[in-house]
Amino acid sequence: MSRILLGRLSSVRRTSTIPKFQRRLFSNAEKYDALVLGAYTNAEEIAFSATPDISSATQKVLLEQLAASSFKKAGDVRTLYNVGGVKQVAVVSLGKKEDTDKGEAQQLASARMASALGIQALRKQGAKNIGVDVSVSAHGAAEGATLAQFAFDKLKNEKSREEVIQVTPFSETITKDSNLDWESGQIYGTSQNLARMLMTTPSNLMTPKLFAEEVAYLLAGLENVEVIVHDEEWAKRQNMNSFLAVAKGSDEAPRFLEIHYRGTTEDQAPHGLVGKGVTFDSGGISIKPSNGMALMKGDMGGAATVAAALYGISRLQLPINIVASIPLCENMPSGKATKPGDVVRAMNGKSIEVMDTDAEGRLILADALYYTSSTFKPESIIDLATLTGACMVALGDVFTGAFTNSDDLWKRLDESGNMTSDRFWRMPLDEGYLTEMKESTVADLNNLGKGRPGGAASAAAFLSQFVEGLDAKNLGELQNPAWCHLDIAGTMDDGPLTRGFNIKGMSGRPTRSLIEYYRSFTK
Ligand code: BES
Ligand code: MN
Ligand code: ZN
Repeated sequence: MSRILLGRLSSVRRTSTIPKFQRRLFSNAEKYDALVLGAYTNAEEIAFSATPDISSATQKVLLEQLAASSFKKAGDVRTLYNVGGVKQVAVVSLGKKEDTDKGEAQQLASARMASALGIQALRKQGAKNIGVDVSVSAHGAAEGATLAQFAFDKLKNEKSREEVIQVTPFSETITKDSNLDWESGQIYGTSQNLARMLMTTPSNLMTPKLFAEEVAYLLAGLENVEVIVHDEEWAKRQNMNSFLAVAKGSDEAPRFLEIHYRGTTEDQAPHGLVGKGVTFDSGGISIKPSNGMALMKGDMGGAATVAAALYGISRLQLPINIVASIPLCENMPSGKATKPGDVVRAMNGKSIEVMDTDAEGRLILADALYYTSSTFKPESIIDLATLTGACMVALGDVFTGAFTNSDDLWKRLDESGNMTSDRFWRMPLDEGYLTEMKESTVADLNNLGKGRPGGAASAAAFLSQFVEGLDAKNLGELQNPAWCHLDIAGTMDDGPLTRGFNIKGMSGRPTRSLIEYYRSFTK
């Protein structure tokens, strides 16, 4: 601390004539070395969102300081020092009050962003024990706080690792009409952080075997969850030849994770979840350019978000049933690898000509989708996959692409994405994209089609051929099961310009949207 600051502090103490009990200007202030406060920046005035907890004297000091620093728009952060007995106070703009009043999604968004930005600012300045104002949305504030603290530095030397800090709610929540609270927000945030951790871990430390072990460990001890780890022999007995065709180029043995979450009675049909778990995608014999290949450690993002969502769902003990299938393998070139032109027979009996070994995601999902739909007869299936560069080209890192035959499912998913600020954009699911895949001269299907043009939609159309119960003639229409394919290639990692609760690196998206989607059935 500088001498000037010390001097000021002591002079405040000496000249103060305020009785002791009034000097504690924030309630519980002594517990914290820093606070994050939310404030509305309306056209005319600045107003705190949690006035009951701040004495009017403190408020006045803070508001004067803010007004002098052109504190105006949503996301603006100002740190003030030594006010009301607290060393550091970060005030974050929640935007206009009237915007926050628009509904729960907007309240969640404001609180989430404000808490994340405030904590990031304070953490850089050495704060260790932070109190957060949660008056706009306790759930949103907890999500922001949890997501903002994610760091993957366990492989760095001890000195350069970030210190663990304490963050707790400081003011009471005012949203009582929702069962979302600080704790549920922490669960949502922690779940996404789990997915980030799984995706960020380098592929040598997150092989199919290690992924399965890690997830079994994470879910162990949670109620109503059963994790079954199937090996290669099991997959062979199931005739999962499409999955095995991808796995066989690698020296790492594949795994097939089957997870059951039983949150309600057995007579309720489960929801199916399927996640692409390619722990490293080199492209195989159709090898990728080396530039950027390192990112392909995240090609198990579907698997990671499915496992992480199940973690959150189990912590919340949502009253629904879920069955999840996660095929795990590496896509590698070798003397044993599948070669372009090879033909494999998938579990459902369809033959596939592998025109491009880099279109491997659809090959492993083909068997996982058929296994899930034929074995468990789920009422709906959602699959998640870092499937196509084409989807990344179409939507960037803003929206996850959603391909579904169900308007109801879409509506629910769309609303869930708005609640979590991790959104979806509906894309075409149409038999028109299938034609190109049916032009193999030697097999029922080829895995490439036209490749890049419309590549995200043709991948989705390919997958539909392996969902039992779907009629290929009317792909876009509602059928049983309701099915949705989510292409998360574009949202796999967040760019360097992201801030607040979205941080640079593997995103763990859309874990929170998945949890919210399933919670919406139980509201
Ligand atoms: N894992 C990739 C897709 C991907 C690309 C994910 C970029 C995340 C970021 C997938 O297996 C792949 O290689 N897809 C090919 C398909 C093509 C050969 C039809 C692609 O998109 O180029
Ligand atoms: Mn690939
Ligand atoms: Zn891939």
